[in-house]
Amino acid sequence: MASVAAWLPAASLLLLLLLLPGVPGKSLQNLGAAQPVCTQAVYNWCSSWEAANTCEVTKRCSARWRNTNSRPVSVEVYYETLCPGCREFVVMDLFPVWVLVGDSVLNVTLVPFGNAKESYENGTWQFDCQHGELECKLNTVQACLLDIYKNDFSAAFPVINCMLSSSDIENSLEPCLKVYSPKTSVDEVMKCANGPQGNKLMHQNAQKTLNLSPPHKYTPWVLLEKKLLEDLDQLLKYVCQTYQGPLPAVCERNSFVFTE
Ligand SMILES: *[C@@H]1O[C@H](CO)[C@@H](O)[C@H](O)[C@H]1NC(C)=O
Ligand SMILES: *[C@@H]1O[C@H](CO)[C@@H](O)[C@H](O)[C@H]1NC(C)=O
Repeated sequence: MASVAAWLPAASLLLLLLLLPGVPGKSLQNLGAAQPVCTQAVYNWCSSWEAANTCEVTKRCSARWRNTNSRPVSVEVYYETLCPGCREFVVMDLFPVWVLVGDSVLNVTLVPFGNAKESYENGTWQFDCQHGELECKLNTVQACLLDIYKNDFSAAFPVINCMLSSSDIENSLEPCLKVYSPKTSVDEVMKCANGPQGNKLMHQNAQKTLNLSPPHKYTPWVLLEKKLLEDLDQLLKYVCQTYQGPLPAVCERNSFVFTE
């Protein structure tokens, strides 16, 4: 009882502060148009000098811009949308590392198909997915997103990561597009996913996956510079050790680069 009594005044003070108009934070209307507002998604802050300047990160980005002469480390990910291990790897390891080191250090290739099977029937490719129909549908949706943004992976990856991290992955496309790619419509993506283009893209992914040598044994099957990456939670370490250009700050701050 004593601890609850001690806690109550603090809680009511907090409540009071939240309810007081305009105190303690600034209200949105008062921010005004005095300086350009950083409206880009965080992943795109280093995409141009203007964006970096507006978002006040030119210093941070300049390290990245110096690194563009070395070839980025390639990471290919063979996955399927409903496998928990795949979702965990993308959301907990791959996406954060990609955000930390950037496109100039890490070249990510996503291939949604995984352990599915394909057959040719009645003029189209039919797919049989490990986690059922829904997985086939979501794999195709992600293949379509990767195709729609084939020249701009940094637009596709946040949407895909958002879907894979969602508690309701089945209905995640629309809210994820709304937040990370508002110019793309659900209709555009679904037209691809439900039509011949989606079918063709999934067939290509099937071919890429089934032609792997050595063949994949499980998902996610992750190749770093064409070699199997087994310690999936060590991705950052291997990327830092493999990259030939000047190391990004996040590698230098981690002593593993120098201890092996
Ligand atoms: C990234 O990887 C893809 C697929 O392996 C390759 O075609 C592409 O050339 C690579 N990009 C760079 C910049 O190395
Ligand atoms: C292919 O067509 C046949 C005959 O119309 C039909 O019985 C069969 O279910 C179709 N297969 C698929 C996978 O749609």
